Amino acid sequence: MASVMEKLITPLASGPAEPPRNKVTVVGVGQVGMACAVSILLRELADELALVDVVEDRLKGEMLDLQHGSLFLKTPKIVADKDYSVTANSRIVVVTAGVRQQEGESRLNLVQRNVNIFKHIIPQIVKYSPDCTLIVVSNPVDVLTYVTWKLSGLPKHRVIGSGTNLDSARFRHIMAEKLGIHSSSFNGYILGEHGDSSVAVWSGANVAGVSLQKLNPDIGTDKDSENWKKVHKEVVDSAYEVIKLKGYTNWAIGLSVADLTETLVKNLSRVHPVSTMVKGMYGISDEVYLSLPCVLNSSGVGSVINMTLTDDEIAQLKKSADTLWGIQKDLKDL
Ligand SMILES: *[C@@H]1O[C@H](CO)[C@@H](O)[C@H](O)[C@H]1NC(C)=O
Ligand SMILES: *[C@@H]1O[C@H](CO)[C@@H](O)[C@H](O)[C@H]1NC(C)=O
Ligand SMILES: *[C@@H]1O[C@H](CO)[C@@H](O)[C@H](O)[C@H]1NC(C)=O
Repeated sequence: MASVMEKLITPLASGPAEPPRNKVTVVGVGQVGMACAVSILLRELADELALVDVVEDRLKGEMLDLQHGSLFLKTPKIVADKDYSVTANSRIVVVTAGVRQQEGESRLNLVQRNVNIFKHIIPQIVKYSPDCTLIVVSNPVDVLTYVTWKLSGLPKHRVIGSGTNLDSARFRHIMAEKLGIHSSSFNGYILGEHGDSSVAVWSGANVAGVSLQKLNPDIGTDKDSENWKKVHKEVVDSAYEVIKLKGYTNWAIGLSVADLTETLVKNLSRVHPVSTMVKGMYGISDEVYLSLPCVLNSSGVGSVINMTLTDDEIAQLKKSADTLWGIQKDLKDL
């Protein structure tokens, strides 16, 4: 006797199933990884989502929890496994895995521990998705993006660090709030190294093309009587503040990664401040990743915008590059 399914459904198409077109993998299902995953799901960017982690119970739990929300999503396939074969044919792979700094641990030691973890992760990703674009989110993000680029063997335009994309979003939020406008209408960039030594590009800050520096030539400097410089300090401190209050940051980084994913998947050629290989730019001679405004398209980093930076801003970028190279040159097994 025919089954309910046979009675109900008459097949028309035949032939093999096609591979996914916009598959996104998230490596690491911690707070950051899951915020990235949920943001990507809600923005309807992926036709398949794969999750990978080494903690199997947590991984399966997160997968089931998301699958139970299928009715409210437009991503028909959500899979998870500790084996990287589950990631096959990904277009975008978001890497959030890694260990955090322990009390008293040096930055070099932290990076080396993450190198050892990435040595396991990155070759597996590339094995199953040789044409993917990698977005590295794990910290310290600029060094780990360099590490990922080295371990992946991929061309540099396919390895991107989330970099100062979030720092810039925080900057735009705080500046826009002070001016009483929406964040998207305040244009400004935080570039360079993600975190404490980031560079606020006051020379380019504008609203509707009106340069704030033209209105106040001292903006962003110590001479400024309005002390706008403290907004950059607020940006740098804001991660610490959120961590102090809730233990970690996840929503804003998740939303910002989904925004990058949208530009890459839809070939939008939008400009984002993300970490890219800057050797040869602004007199930087070492292989370091730092954030510059990048035009992202479906190839990855299509091009980099040449900024008209002040001498001081260029000096700050170079200083970040030297700091990063100081750490990178002593890494083992790359
Ligand atoms: C991506 O966008 C560029 C610029 O708009 C266009 O020339 C190119 O054909 C697009 N590529 C794909 C694969 O859609
Ligand atoms: C992305 O942009 C670069 C630089 O403009 C271009 O060479 C490349 O073909 C673009 N990729 C696509 C898919 O259009
Ligand atoms: C701007 O870009 C061009 C390549 O298009 C490059 O030759 C030039 O050196 C860049 N200028 C600066 C100031 O980096």
